[in-house]
Amino acid sequence: MDLLQRAAQFLSQKGVPNPRLDAEVLLSHVLGCRRIDLYLRHDQPLRDDEIDSFRELIRRRGRREPVAYITGQKEFWSLTFTVNSAVLIPRPETELLVELSIRFIRRLREEKQGPISVLDVGTGCGAIALAIASETDEGVSIVATDVSSEALKVASQNASALNLHHRVCLLQGDLFSPLVGSQGEFHLIVSNPPYIARSEFAGLPPEVRDFEPRLALDGGEDGLHFIRSLLEEGPLWLDPTGAMFLEVGEGHKAPIEVILRELDSWGHWSWESDLAGTPRVLSLRPSAKDKGTVNTIQRQADLNG
Ligand SMILES: C[S@@+](CC[C@H](N)C(=O)[O-])C[C@H]1O[C@@H](n2cnc3c(N)ncnc32)[C@H](O)[C@@H]1O
Repeated sequence: MDLLQRAAQFLSQKGVPNPRLDAEVLLSHVLGCRRIDLYLRHDQPLRDDEIDSFRELIRRRGRREPVAYITGQKEFWSLTFTVNSAVLIPRPETELLVELSIRFIRRLREEKQGPISVLDVGTGCGAIALAIASETDEGVSIVATDVSSEALKVASQNASALNLHHRVCLLQGDLFSPLVGSQGEFHLIVSNPPYIARSEFAGLPPEVRDFEPRLALDGGEDGLHFIRSLLEEGPLWLDPTGAMFLEVGEGHKAPIEVILRELDSWGHWSWESDLAGTPRVLSLRPSAKDKGTVNTIQRQADLNG
């Protein structure tokens, strides 16, 4: 299709990393069909209004607006999420956090009777909380917080669209502040906090730097501002049998281990790497002194699934 070829060429000149793929995704969005269908209907002429709409989307992509903001959608955990410029576009590496969370919840369910409480701090479009909800039953209650009311509107929209609104309670506020009165109640705290260091901003791809919300990215001077707070406050909100799983940035492992040794409030931790081999998820269990006589070797084994 000549139109696709020209669009891909234009995007390539603008420095877009996968120009042909993006052109196809945007054309199938305009035509309301699947990407594969573009090839089945390659000899079908497009209407003028379809060509105009496609050109406008290609112009936006040429200004480096992410495809997900242009189409308003992103797949995560095989679920379709609505996204807009108020929320981070969920990343594939965050699925590791979901995978570990679900494994931990299933293990806990086998071991203990009664309801399980999960907290997702900084939920954005609701990706983590809703993916967990989609894989668990009503015995697992999920609270998701965000400081941004605009992000929570998107999360609420996604909860309804996925028919999971009865499973996730959305609360607005800074980190744990909307949860006062629930200290010690959560069996799992999960978070993908903002973790980009200030010095890294200039080097980010324009799609991220110029379009994704600063609030979702900015982790302070060293990128560890929110991670530090979560490590400091996490144990207070966890049930003694609970765990906290955090997504962290590249190069964070060493400085985080320094913080953990200083804090001395986490008994055990371990790291899981993403597909690129970067330590990406930190799994933590509260210190044994808060947990009585739990066998620490067993706990480490649990953590590693
Ligand atoms: C990296 S994004 C993660 C979004 C989503 N959980 C995901 O993984 O796709 C971080 C989120 O934390 C939220 N956030 C930033 N500062 C916060 C704070 N002080 N308290 C709670 N949430 C905060 C942002 O609005 C954003 O939605």
